[in-house]
Amino acid sequence: MNKKRILSGMRPTGKLHIGHYVGALENWISLQENYECFFLIADYHVLTTDLNTKDIYDNSIQMLIDWLSSGLDPKKVLVFRQSQIKQHAELFLIFSMFITSSRLERNPTLKEQVRDLNIDNVIYGHLGYPVLQAADILLYKGEIVPVGEDQIPHIEISREIARRFNSQYGIVFPEPEPMLTKFARLPGLDGNAKMSKSLNNSILLSDTPDEIKAKVKKAVTDPNKIRKGDPGNPDICLIYSYHKKFNESETDEIYQNCKSGVLGCVDCKMKCSLKISEYFSDFREKRSFYENNQQEVLEILLHGEQEARKVAEKTMDEVHKKMNLG
Ligand code: TRP
Repeated sequence: MNKKRILSGMRPTGKLHIGHYVGALENWISLQENYECFFLIADYHVLTTDLNTKDIYDNSIQMLIDWLSSGLDPKKVLVFRQSQIKQHAELFLIFSMFITSSRLERNPTLKEQVRDLNIDNVIYGHLGYPVLQAADILLYKGEIVPVGEDQIPHIEISREIARRFNSQYGIVFPEPEPMLTKFARLPGLDGNAKMSKSLNNSILLSDTPDEIKAKVKKAVTDPNKIRKGDPGNPDICLIYSYHKKFNESETDEIYQNCKSGVLGCVDCKMKCSLKISEYFSDFREKRSFYENNQQEVLEILLHGEQEARKVAEKTMDEVHKKMNLG
């Protein structure tokens, strides 16, 4: 039986944090066994919010090293940079004829970004973000797109574009389905609902055990639990949510002991940072291997780009034929 095809991607903003792992990577890794997987480094998408491209190459490589060190297997998946496959740009242009600007202006993910980043004038490319994303997915005829909740509106736009193209020119594209990541987002160390590099509240996958310890030590906890002995409320404590993910076997005990006050925040945090360090110890070992063997990383990337390009060319041949652009 043919495996279904998955496409997903991330914007290369540098080293990844543990929220990326929990929210996306872990899922990608479990999918690589049973699906044909294409994972893209969205280096054009970064430009929508940052035109300074000084670090874009290094950031892409660092992100790829994080992917590989987490367990993405280059024998099973293809990894590639969007910018190295020119067909993304062409299909983006064609797709831009299949969606109105008012539809794009209604996109809630865009509105959220405009608010959070204090953008007062949206550039054309940013408005078109989901159109480029539709090209990313449909160039490879991606059927399933594993993403976080914030990306659902984008996948809906991809579906609309696929539908309109198909009804105008005949069927070329599947209507891609989003696949939501199971585990909710990890909160940031400052208590923000989202761990994010730009908010400076994250634990990087590549952090050393000492760095993890220092960061966790400074994290906010239940403000009503001031000293050991005070009863705490684990349900509102971000450290407890980290325990739930990285220290599953002890969560019940921690819950009880936080509530009763027997467990103080200092000890609880110590336990937590040890568990996080342990959880990512294989990761760190693999990461130092790839750091020291960057030639291998490059070969994996170039191979992915070569293979992705073949698929992209084939799709565009079909598109050209259907549109009489041959
Ligand atoms: N927009 C996605 C994000 O910010 C990244 C992305 C770019 C993507 N192209 C994609 C995700 C295609 C899925 C499919 O997370």
